[in-house]
Amino acid sequence: MTRKSFSSPDKSLSTDDYKVRQLLQAGTSRLHSKLDKFSKLSLLIQPDCNLHQYTDAMCRLAQAYKLLDQALWAATSYNPKGLFEYQPRSSWLERDLIALGKKLPMDFDATLPLPPPSSTGSYLGMRYVAEGAQLGGQVITKKLLSSDLASQLDTIGSFWTDFSQPANQWPAFLDSLEQLQYRKEIAHAIRSARVTFKHFIHYMT
Ligand code: HEM
Repeated sequence: MTRKSFSSPDKSLSTDDYKVRQLLQAGTSRLHSKLDKFSKLSLLIQPDCNLHQYTDAMCRLAQAYKLLDQALWAATSYNPKGLFEYQPRSSWLERDLIALGKKLPMDFDATLPLPPPSSTGSYLGMRYVAEGAQLGGQVITKKLLSSDLASQLDTIGSFWTDFSQPANQWPAFLDSLEQLQYRKEIAHAIRSARVTFKHFIHYMT
């Protein structure tokens, strides 16, 4: 394998030293924009988001996360030592769906499989999308709490208001990402992150 030319992952990392993260960001920013600007999720950050739009987005999100949870759980053996385990999101979403009078599976095309990662690089690429989505989730939660739906979130929005991870988990995740040393495994991570973003785009648009 070709060693990447970046500085050693051993040294203490300041934010600017997150080289692998920067590569992942660059490789997926166009796909992220598609999600936050043009997907059904973008409706959730509008102050007048209505119950119909919210329900549609939540059904799609629940389906997308169900497959993501399955893929990541099937690959826990690739979770690097020291990295906190992935916490499945589906149960929160399914609870909200029940409150909305819906249940999985949905009647839209839900047949696209999401293959489980088959290397540490591809596992971390998929985790990058899953953990990064929590950052976007914080933005969505804030907007929902000041939207027309705010008073109902206790019953239909546990995914946004109750599921939360300790604030230090994102930096801890980035530290694990920086342990990827080889071009080949970083390439796997980028490919996997792109596949995972496309998975969400498939369900959310
Ligand atoms: C309306 C929907 C969304 C909005 C408004 C949004 C917004 C944001 C914001 C503001 C950040 C940067 C947070 C920070 O640096 O403190 C972020 C990061 C991120 N989001 Fe989203 N997001 C949305 C949906 C999603 C979804 C659905 C996914 C994944 C499926 C996702 C994946 C990511 C990733 C991977 C990052 C980390 C990028 C990095 O800094 O390396 N986002 N998002």
